[in-house]
Amino acid sequence: MAFAQSLFAQGLRLIDPAQHRVYAARKTTLLGGLRGTVIEIGPGTGLNLAYLNRDITYVGLEPNPHLHACIQSQMRRHRISGRVLQAPVEADVLPPNSADTVISTLVLCSVPDVSTALASIQRVLRPGGRFVFMEHIAANPDQGLHSVQTCVAPVWKRCFDGCHPNRATDRAIMQAGFDTVEMDYFDVRVPVIRPHCAGYAVA
Ligand SMILES: C[S@@+](CC[C@H](N)C(=O)[O-])C[C@H]1O[C@@H](n2cnc3c(N)ncnc32)[C@H](O)[C@@H]1O
Repeated sequence: MAFAQSLFAQGLRLIDPAQHRVYAARKTTLLGGLRGTVIEIGPGTGLNLAYLNRDITYVGLEPNPHLHACIQSQMRRHRISGRVLQAPVEADVLPPNSADTVISTLVLCSVPDVSTALASIQRVLRPGGRFVFMEHIAANPDQGLHSVQTCVAPVWKRCFDGCHPNRATDRAIMQAGFDTVEMDYFDVRVPVIRPHCAGYAVA
């Protein structure tokens, strides 16, 4: 487990520059205006800190300890104060109604149960707080890509830290009981893990 987490952490670091290229414009729009207490689930290497305002209070919930030094270094680099906790979102380690925003980018594909994770996100958000997300989702079932995703899913999950390439995360967000959901779909030039959805949901 520790070896797999360490290997995954090294892999994530390698793809950071490509991630910035592919997602920068969308992340600037989604993350640029956030204020107050911002909780990020699964920050990975902390690459989203580059898009956040300096005056927020940041809490990263990152279960993989091999990524913590990286996240803390990004916090220092972007002069953002806060802390990083070694906990999965569904452990509910933070007080209820304590966040203005929860961020998730490319994380809900990997959580053990997406409905449980969304319930934990709603629990921690204050009334009116926002869940801001950008996730890859299952392709349309009519497309060949959907069959590919289903076929490779068992191996994919093992190789990429539990990532489900065929998860209908968009539907799960729609059905999670948020007050409002604003979501759009987009495609990027990456193999298997496409298309994507992005937007926000109000608690
Ligand atoms: C593909 S990486 C995405 C990292 C980063 N958010 C990004 O956009 O590049 C998935 C991240 O989610 C984390 N993760 C997996 N399961 C999680 C859970 N149950 N709760 C919180 N984070 C989780 C992993 O440790 C990893 O850092």
